[in-house]
Amino acid sequence: MRNEKKTVQNFYDSYGWEKNAAGDFNDTSDFVDTRPVMEAYSHRFAQRMEKIIPPSGDIFMDAGCGPQVYDAYRKFSKNYRHRLCADIAFAPLPLAKEALGNHAICAQIDVTQIPFADEAVDCILCAHVLYHVPADEQAKAIRELYRILKPGGRLIIIYSWPRSFMDRLGIHLNPRVILPKIPGMRWLWRTFFRKRVLGTDEAGDSGEQVNSSPMHPPLYFNPHPYSWFKHTFQDDPFTLQFRCCQAVGLPFSNAFVPNHWTGKLLLRFIAFLEDCFPRTMARLGTYPFIIIDK
Ligand SMILES: C[S@@+](CC[C@H](N)C(=O)[O-])C[C@H]1O[C@@H](n2cnc3c(N)ncnc32)[C@H](O)[C@@H]1O
Repeated sequence: MRNEKKTVQNFYDSYGWEKNAAGDFNDTSDFVDTRPVMEAYSHRFAQRMEKIIPPSGDIFMDAGCGPQVYDAYRKFSKNYRHRLCADIAFAPLPLAKEALGNHAICAQIDVTQIPFADEAVDCILCAHVLYHVPADEQAKAIRELYRILKPGGRLIIIYSWPRSFMDRLGIHLNPRVILPKIPGMRWLWRTFFRKRVLGTDEAGDSGEQVNSSPMHPPLYFNPHPYSWFKHTFQDDPFTLQFRCCQAVGLPFSNAFVPNHWTGKLLLRFIAFLEDCFPRTMARLGTYPFIIIDK
């Protein structure tokens, strides 16, 4: 196995799908903004997802399934006979089985080399996986997933752009960094954006969580830009549709979304833009859906 894949496998087997002292998976607490202010926004994502999944079928494949962290994710396959949970790491598979019971069929599989016949599954979800596949094998993975899809089936990929427009806003215009430097603006910073540290009294009321850079094993991450998708699949027998999944990623939420009503209001406005302009927001935001129909 290639080193990049070994790195990913090792990350998820030895760390990512272990739980921390708070009872959360390390992967979730390191890479997901789990503050209460994000709840309604995440719920809207799940609703959007339900709309694009074909309503029913025989086999729903969850490629790079993880341990089925979210209840909302589990419901995506409720009208399918089985959920085929496939992952390159072993650790998440017993957890997925525990979460889904007899509905789940689990297999340790690399998405770049799938040991299934052509046209075997009805729908495939590949969420937050492809950018952990070696950069020069991501096209192969997409073609493999397409190969095993039945005619009439749908492949749904959740991807992450490298430094999306909204991520860059969060990094370069972070009010937590900028406001204290502008004379007269400290009050605005103090009121809305001052970083609170978990475990202090100050954090008690707000529940604000600051995602730090924890010490963890290395994880391979290499997303391609939109232009790569446009060029790479020009001669393939399918077209890729880009729709907004979640425009807000960690850099943006850490910078601009305070854990109170102003944060909720801002997220509601962004979700409104995502619904009204799904293609534009797919390009500007952090996480697009890439949808391929067969
Ligand atoms: C960020 S987690 C996402 C888990 C789940 N899909 C979700 O959205 O909650 C990435 C998962 O993809 C798996 N993965 C990474 N590369 C893979 C590959 N080449 N084949 C199969 N699974 C892979 C990892 O082991 C890990 O469990």
